[in-house]
Amino acid sequence: METFDSRLEEFLATTEIMEVVSRESASYATYFDSRKYLEAFYGAHLQTQEVAKEIKFVLSFLSKAFASGCIQGDNLIEIAAGPTIWHILSACENFKNIYLTDYSQNNLNEIELWLNEDKNAFDWSSYIKQACELEGGRSTPEEKAEKIREKASFLKCDVTQANPLHPLSLPQADCVIIASCLICVASTLEEFTAYLKNTVSLLKPGGYLVMTEYLRASKYIVGDKIFSVLSVEENVIKKAMADCGCVVEESQIFTICKSYGEVFDSEDVFCVKAKKM
Ligand SMILES: C[S@@+](CC[C@H](N)C(=O)[O-])C[C@H]1O[C@@H](n2cnc3c(N)ncnc32)[C@H](O)[C@@H]1O
Repeated sequence: METFDSRLEEFLATTEIMEVVSRESASYATYFDSRKYLEAFYGAHLQTQEVAKEIKFVLSFLSKAFASGCIQGDNLIEIAAGPTIWHILSACENFKNIYLTDYSQNNLNEIELWLNEDKNAFDWSSYIKQACELEGGRSTPEEKAEKIREKASFLKCDVTQANPLHPLSLPQADCVIIASCLICVASTLEEFTAYLKNTVSLLKPGGYLVMTEYLRASKYIVGDKIFSVLSVEENVIKKAMADCGCVVEESQIFTICKSYGEVFDSEDVFCVKAKKM
């Protein structure tokens, strides 16, 4: 039977030099190629004009969460947005200020290109169109893009720090989004919970944590670099949330069916919305 490891072996045999990078966050500053990541994980729509099924699932979860009316306020922080803007597409309707953050300056530079409508920016138009359709067309794609450009700014963050925004500090936020970050940064479940605690410290009591995370993954590939990730189960994430004082209100799993091919070995994406007590 074909497994991820056999596909990876085949991939390695046909690729020039692959390097397994250390799991330290510094690897993301040095080796994470933002543009290659965007192309490998988010670029399929450029050919098809359609977003992938698992993306549609996550956008749909986010659209319902933010349409429910309970998650809104002044400030939204996305932790480890990477070079992307797609997790805030529905949230942008509900907040005055949006802070997109990441450890890597290169990722923030990609976000900046998009915010500035630079001609070299990654094209998120299919994602924006999809989010508008899921919301029943309350904004046009142009209106939504404009809203984000008006409200969003970008900042450095490090989830391993007690204050992930150090040396800055912001008023505690009404909502924090974190997607596909903690499995990349944590080497153990204890670290996973500790970094989640740091993240939750940015949230005010009564505020919402919205998380998407991949289950049972071990590694992913960006360009010629292999990044290791921590394998987690749904119950482990829920337990970490409870340990951080958050109560899960809604969660869903979507089975990806190997759609990331040889670049990623997770088959399930988990979305969860939790309230900080
Ligand atoms: C797999 S990417 C996910 C990016 C984006 N959230 C997404 O869903 O596509 C993991 C992200 O974690 C960021 N990261 C790595 N170490 C970090 C740290 N210590 N604190 C915050 N973010 C970190 C990386 O720069 C990278 O953008």
